[in-house]
Amino acid sequence: DDPEKLAEFQARIDAGEKIEPKDWMPVGYRKTLIRQIGQHAHSEIVGQLPEGNWITRAPTLERKAILLAKVQDEAGHGLYLYCAAETLGVSRDELTEMLLDGRMKYSSIFAYPTLTWADMGAVGWLVDGAAIMNQVPLQRTSFGPYARAMVRICKEESFHQRQGFDIMRKMAGGTEAQKRMAQDALNRFWYPSLMMFGPPDADSVHSSQSMAWKIKMNTNDELRQKFVDQTVPQAEFLGLSIPDPDLRWNEETGHYDFTPPDWDEFFAVLKGNGPCSVDRIATRRKAWDDGAWVRDGLMAHAAKKRAARTA
Ligand code: ACO
Repeated sequence: DDPEKLAEFQARIDAGEKIEPKDWMPVGYRKTLIRQIGQHAHSEIVGQLPEGNWITRAPTLERKAILLAKVQDEAGHGLYLYCAAETLGVSRDELTEMLLDGRMKYSSIFAYPTLTWADMGAVGWLVDGAAIMNQVPLQRTSFGPYARAMVRICKEESFHQRQGFDIMRKMAGGTEAQKRMAQDALNRFWYPSLMMFGPPDADSVHSSQSMAWKIKMNTNDELRQKFVDQTVPQAEFLGLSIPDPDLRWNEETGHYDFTPPDWDEFFAVLKGNGPCSVDRIATRRKAWDDGAWVRDGLMAHAAKKRAARTA
């Protein structure tokens, strides 16, 4: 990249200007955005799978309708994000191919199974709670289409988080067996949720450049700490215990001290060795292959319309 153009670009970022798709941007800025927005979109789409599994098993009609709406919202989030990525010159087909052949990632959290109905509560409360913590600051990210997509996504995520907390509240205040299920879901989802924020800052290869470009607004550890600080009192309210014997309030720092996740497990999940990793990609591939005739039909229809217009 031309150093003069780079300096001009950085000055725009520093002045808080939004970068739009047709503006000049460094090669690395474009590449980082395609990676992050693409991975984010894949996470929304793959994220439908663990909850989609429970739509037919929701305990009441009301819970079924809520879960169905939530899973549909996630599909919508994936679509806005693929559109934002497309403005950078990559097609949705290319992004999907990269997911399916392992060149692109999706969030580690979705490599874990959802075993009971209480998991629907834990996913909404913790997973969507962590997602919001990460995504609210992204409403101020420097790339216009990404920032704007985040506004609606965050509104919907906050509904998702509340519905999850509501399931947890019901379960935690229910029978002994229901309370045990709620505690078990918290036990299994606590550390995978902390991993969603990414590796510790010392191992985060992209953070410093992404923060200089305001693609990321906070470091991974900052957001993880904020999430712990926010979630511990909510667990106390529910009468559930965070599965970390060393968790305690630190008067001096004004934050909770906590045991970090097992980072070996995190990196194994990133390599595709999570408990459901193989199954998630196989399901995604099947959906993509099964939908080929729809995409082909739409393309043929669009070509026919175009031909009719030019004839
Ligand atoms: N799951 C999978 N991969 C991860 C995760 C995670 N939880 N955290 C980090 N990684 C990957 C990064 O993508 C990067 O790999 P790559 O170079 O192959 O792309 C590598 O680990 C190193 O991490 P960082 O340097 O810290 O990466 P980055 O600066 O991109 O930060 C983060 C990671 C915080 C997840 C960032 O990409 C982000 O904010 N993304 C947008 C939010 C998002 O994707 N949310 C999806 C989950 S929630 C939901 O959608 C319901």
